[in-house]
Amino acid sequence: MNKINYGRQYVDSKDIQAVSKILKQDKITTGIQVEKFEKLINQYLKCRYSTTCNSGTSALFLAMQSIGLKKNDIVIMPSINFVASYNVAKLFGARIFLSDVNQHTGQMSPENVLNCCKKFKLSKVKAIITMYNGGYPENAENFYKLKKKLGCYIIEDACHAFGSQYKSGNRYYKIGSCSHSDISTFSLHPVKSITTGEGGIVTTNSKKINDKIKALRSLGIVKDKNKHWKYDVIYNGFNFRLNDFQCALGISQLKKINKFISYRNKIAKKYTKKLKSVPYILCPNVQNKYFSSFHLYLINLKKPNMIKKEKLIKYMLRNKIIIQYHYIPIYKFKYFSDKYICDNAEIYYNSTVSLPIYYGLKDKEQNLIINKIKKFFKVK
Ligand SMILES: Cc1ncc(COP(=O)(O)O)c(C=O)c1O
Repeated sequence: MNKINYGRQYVDSKDIQAVSKILKQDKITTGIQVEKFEKLINQYLKCRYSTTCNSGTSALFLAMQSIGLKKNDIVIMPSINFVASYNVAKLFGARIFLSDVNQHTGQMSPENVLNCCKKFKLSKVKAIITMYNGGYPENAENFYKLKKKLGCYIIEDACHAFGSQYKSGNRYYKIGSCSHSDISTFSLHPVKSITTGEGGIVTTNSKKINDKIKALRSLGIVKDKNKHWKYDVIYNGFNFRLNDFQCALGISQLKKINKFISYRNKIAKKYTKKLKSVPYILCPNVQNKYFSSFHLYLINLKKPNMIKKEKLIKYMLRNKIIIQYHYIPIYKFKYFSDKYICDNAEIYYNSTVSLPIYYGLKDKEQNLIINKIKKFFKVK
């Protein structure tokens, strides 16, 4: 049997046809597929504006540049995270504060942010960058209340949460609708809900932010609508464009989003059903008001223990099953200069692994994963 990775893409013949068709056309970048994909994203997420770009990292860059993030601005983000938002904020010269998180979900809450403000005596926060670890869209609405209180921007690093929803009042909102944030960013990397190979999306409901992002995606250039030879450069920016055949792949993948997300939820339900009785592990506790994309299926060891956790990872690897950290706290990296630790992030780090979950994971593969975990913990 081949190795079972923690995530992978699902690309079918329709996706391949969609890409090939565009490759035969005159315009393979800056063409109509880009706008078409963006319109479909707006419809799906129910946001006013979206901008495609070439990675989740460039989506974060565009988001931070669009709010005018500058040297010494204060930014708060969770200590459990992929390193992209930290790296980008660092490039802008921001003062970054890593907040503690929930020890089970690895997610930062508004209370964690307030504690972080207190601990570091912070006032005038420019932006809070939230992250829905594994796709679980916790606290979107509560962060919006905090935004009002602190007068800051909320950028949702929603790279795990394309397809996630949360209930507010008696309605469900998609993450990315920006109903309770200023900007959301997504990644279209192969392990994510849908893919364009590499790629990203930024969404917002603000025309001002969107206009800036659209110009910034293309080196800050704005073109004269009536004279194709005339243009001006109004910002200092990079080329972050997603090309037309990638957008064609995105359009084709988006048609399958409901199927992808329900399959991930089906896998998650089965893991929970089969593993919740294992006395050594805790399965995710999904509240009714949240619907997760299940980008990751995260389990916690009941007694946090890095030696045990690494033994489990190595045991699964010997059985050709890749389970992952997701994530090492950012303050542990060599180039993080302020030395501190966050207590719950340590517990999370010592106890949490993610199990394989993706569209196309076969039933027999999932059974094997479940059986190997039970065998490791000597449970029948
Ligand atoms: C939470 C989070 N943010 C940002 C990114 C960066 O996305 P990309 O790899 O598309 O640049 C990732 C990628 O895995 C991620 O998981």
